[in-house]
Amino acid sequence: MSLRQLCQSNPILIHPYRLARAVKHVLMAPLRLPVCLAFSVTRPDRARLRRAAWVRRRPSRESALADIVMNYHVLEKGLTMPARRKNFGHAAILQLAAKAGQFLKTYGEAPQVLHAIGCLRAYDALHDHADRAADPTFWSAFDDALARLPQTPPATQPHTTREAFFAASQAPFEAFARSRHTLRHYAGPLPIERVRAAVALAVDTAPSACNRQFTRVRCVSDHAVIAKLLEIQGGSRGFGHLADKLLVITADLDDAFSGGERNEPYVEGGILLMNLAYALHCHRIAHCILNCFFDTPRDNAFRALLPGLPQTELLIAAIACGEAPAEFDVAASPRRPLSEVYAEL
Ligand SMILES: Cc1cc2nc3c(=O)[nH]c(=O)nc-3n(C[C@H](O)[C@H](O)[C@H](O)COP(=O)(O)O)c2cc1C
Repeated sequence: MSLRQLCQSNPILIHPYRLARAVKHVLMAPLRLPVCLAFSVTRPDRARLRRAAWVRRRPSRESALADIVMNYHVLEKGLTMPARRKNFGHAAILQLAAKAGQFLKTYGEAPQVLHAIGCLRAYDALHDHADRAADPTFWSAFDDALARLPQTPPATQPHTTREAFFAASQAPFEAFARSRHTLRHYAGPLPIERVRAAVALAVDTAPSACNRQFTRVRCVSDHAVIAKLLEIQGGSRGFGHLADKLLVITADLDDAFSGGERNEPYVEGGILLMNLAYALHCHRIAHCILNCFFDTPRDNAFRALLPGLPQTELLIAAIACGEAPAEFDVAASPRRPLSEVYAEL
């Protein structure tokens, strides 16, 4: 009888080759991650990151544009908030006007910059003489800045009704997809059964690498917990308090097997997120995706409010959900022209 057969027939005996492999596996474990991080896998990531404008602190046209879009989006959101205040965001508005002017001087016109100026003009149109009297210094600086920018019409943020907004929620895909938008207005309780049905639709239809399905969804209904989570998240001021449910989307690192799959939890998370947005729209649930771009203290604080969340699950995003009110404003959020996004090689 060979040694191999002897070991197979006796459960107490371990073949020396298998023993050596097990010992090697255990001894290498602490090294596996550093080796993966230091060499083949993450070196290209680090090299690429070093070239990114925000790391080099040298703006490119693309990063200057992204900065302007991010800034005008805050203004767009402010213009469509449920309880819209007047005279909000003065410092940010002057900064946006300055950035738009600088961009035009350095790079010339771009549709995104013209939309930013349109948002500034919409802000201008919103305030009459009485509103301006509250802060004459700001308004004089704002008028000067606006006079130096091109004459664009004010950007309109569509005002609509619940019926019109969801009119295409069961339509063929093109009309359906074009009708989905982030909604930051919520009213009253949202039945959990509709949330469950939307999540089931999204989970059952999202593609996934080797069908491993890295993602998980948790629905938080306790308003006190939602308030704490949103306070940490920070991107839902002015509307988050109206949400009835908060979905938290995670993806599990344990479903990946190598450094080459290091970003797969985020890919899977993004795919589910998009599918979920469509499924929520299909079930006429008003919703807004909320980023989880957290540093370690915020990541820890957010996780601490989600009992049982394993450390291997990465936070992908949250989604504020609610019943849509009868009428509301929607942020326009115009898209890049196709020529900036698509190329035929
Ligand atoms: C990953 C991600 C994070 C987002 N985070 C926020 C956020 O923190 N606050 C917010 O008001 N909107 C957030 N949004 C919503 C975007 O602002 C919105 O999707 C975008 O302006 C496009 O508008 P649309 O969804 O109506 O097409 C987020 C969207 C995505 C995809």
